[in-house]
Parts: sequence; C-alpha cells; structure tokens
Amino acid sequence: MRMAAWQTAGVVALAAGVVLALGPSAPVLAQGAWVAPAAEKSKKNPLPDDKATLELGEKVAKTNCITCHGAKGKGDGAAAAALNPKPADWTSKRVQAESDGEIFWKVSTGRGAMPSWKFLPEKDRWAVVHYIHSLGGK
Ligand code: HEC
Repeated sequence: MRMAAWQTAGVVALAAGVVLALGPSAPVLAQGAWVAPAAEKSKKNPLPDDKATLELGEKVAKTNCITCHGAKGKGDGAAAAALNPKPADWTSKRVQAESDGEIFWKVSTGRGAMPSWKFLPEKDRWAVVHYIHSLGGK
C-alpha cells in the first residue's frame, strides 16, 4: 500500500508525539493498586467488537504499545526490562477482569512509565481496548 504525502506526514507526526510522550519520563514511584473512578469504569465501548475494530486495535497496539507490552501483550516488550513496575500483562486475569471503561481510562490517563495516550483519537483508544480483551485466554 502506497501512502500519500499527507499520510506519511501524519505517521511522522505521530511518531514524534510518541517520542515526546516517552521523553522525560515521570519518576517511578512505589505505587499501589491502580483503580479507575467508578464513572469511568461504567463507560461503554462505543465501537462494535468486530473484525474491523480488532484490526484497528491491533494496528494501534503494534504502533504504540508493544515495545513495552510485548508482541502478544504479555508485558515483555523490549523496553520492559528497564521498567519497574513492569508493563501490565494484558492477557492476565486481572487486566481481563477490568471493564472496557476502566482500561480506556488507564490508557488515556497513564501512570508513571505508562504514557498517557490522550493524543490518540478516541476511536483508536476504544479499538485497542477491544483488542486487549480479545487476548483473554491467549
Ligand atoms: C514506555 C512503556 C509503555 C508503553 C509504550 C505503553 N505502556 Fe501500558 N503500561 C506500562 C507500564 C509500566 C504499566 C504499569 C503502570 C503501573 O502499574 O503503574 C502499564 C500499564 C498499562 C495498563 C494498565 C493495566 C492495569 O490495569 O494495570 C494498560 C491497560 C496499558 N498499559 C495499555 C497500554 C496501551 C493500550 C498502550 C499503547 C497505546 C500502552 N499501554 C503503551 C508501560 C507502557
């Protein structure tokens, strides 16, 4: 697939955004449980849980997340070794038990070494939430 110039520019801008987001990383603090506010937890995913959404979610994860969370979402990406706390294992029972709204809020907010992904379109963030839930039992 050939990309038009404006698309290439978009990809470059996105990559620059990621570098900025990862730049001067916040100090790593001893942290307790990370819990989303109740109003966020109950938010419903506006996207259908279908093939197109999962493909978009996988693309978003490959572009932005797997360096830390690993190609299969197990929290073992190349950058994970240096991090404490470790990137979450998306396939774990704990993450799988979280609601779409809770994961969306965490992805949007970030904490410590986990960047905030607010600059990604909401659609991309909701799609990656469906993708994370599709990894349950894998
Ligand atoms: C620079 C490394 C890094 C990148 C890139 C990254 N994460 Fe994370 N992520 C982390 C770390 C570290 C944690 C654990 C944070 C904590 O517990 O304080 C985390 C935690 C999470 C959690 C919380 C799970 C839970 O309930 O504990 C979710 C969901 C998540 N990441 C999704 C994503 C998504 C989606 C992306 C890409 C859009 C992404 N992450 C990109 C490092 C990263």
